[in-house]
Amino acid sequence: MANPTLLILAGDGIGPEVMGQVTRVIDWFGAKRDLAFEVEHDLVGGAAYDKHGTPLHDDTMAKALEADAVLLGAVGGPKYDALDFSLKPERGLLRLRKEMDLFSNLRPAQCFDALADFSSLKRDVVAGLDIMIVRELTSGVYFGEPRGIFEEGNERVGINTQRYTESEIERVARSAFELARRRGNKVCSMEKANVMESGVLWREVVQRVHDADYADVELSHMYADNGAMQLVRAPKQFDVIVTDNLFGDILSDCAAMLTGSLGMLPSASLGAPNADGRPKALYEPVHGSAPDIAGQGKANPIACILSFAMALRYSFDQGEEATRLEQAVEKVLADGARTADLMGPDGGTPISTSQMGDAILAALDASL
Ligand code: IPM
Ligand code: MG
Repeated sequence: MANPTLLILAGDGIGPEVMGQVTRVIDWFGAKRDLAFEVEHDLVGGAAYDKHGTPLHDDTMAKALEADAVLLGAVGGPKYDALDFSLKPERGLLRLRKEMDLFSNLRPAQCFDALADFSSLKRDVVAGLDIMIVRELTSGVYFGEPRGIFEEGNERVGINTQRYTESEIERVARSAFELARRRGNKVCSMEKANVMESGVLWREVVQRVHDADYADVELSHMYADNGAMQLVRAPKQFDVIVTDNLFGDILSDCAAMLTGSLGMLPSASLGAPNADGRPKALYEPVHGSAPDIAGQGKANPIACILSFAMALRYSFDQGEEATRLEQAVEKVLADGARTADLMGPDGGTPISTSQMGDAILAALDASL
């Protein structure tokens, strides 16, 4: 059988640096685990704009639709701040999400024991934390029409539209319930049904899907503002959280900090399964392009490496190899390997991006 294909879009800022370490990990699985991939590299975001004048070239879009999985680094940077909205690096990422129809964005927030003291919250609040945010990714206020800045009388008005159809809510709810069954069997759905009609419909549809097909899963509903508060008050009450595109963007950054560093969090964006049963999929770290530290070898590659672990699990049915990689990461952290974002209150000497890669490869070797 032909090797599965991976399209790597390293993007901007620290994207290429962290992706460089992921490439080494991919090569390791090819050499040591007989798990070879056909890897192709292309441009996205500012890097694509610099070369083609667009944040995502049509050829790249076509390749992404063909690939078995896409790995993305990060997009954006101050250099592109003044560009028109349609040309901004972020549009490249949003186009990939929309055209690949990646409606279910899985953002796990797991607190590694070795990092429990790095969170801004107390150790006992976060130690052992393992939650999954399922963010709707292809609709809502990110894509709703009308949108724009319009003249109204003698001033301008900025408009965005929150819009959800029943089928959009239903499919992301299903993916959350399916996931919960393989974890703690609990789903908390978050919206603002107290002020938004789209929230009223969201709550109704999630409940209906639950009652019809997932009555065995424990379901609760929460207003998203309360959800934000509960995430920092007592995050371990949650198992799976399902929410819309904008609330999911905000709540997942909040959840990320519970784990000690944004440099730790991977994500998977999944669409409907293809004929071969494999979902359309894009994997990317939750962190951004971090232009302030780009090019200095300081970035933490773990979020991007753990995103590849998610690819092994969700695209390639290699759950055991995914666990092997996650355990290698856990081991290097337990052994004290720390990039600059993981410096505790008492300092220490940070290792570089590639040294973190070295450590993880050594831990992988030791796992054999
Ligand atoms: C994220 C990011 C993106 C988003 C940006 C880069 C467009 O913040 O993936 O969370 O808002 O979705
Ligand atoms: Mg975000």
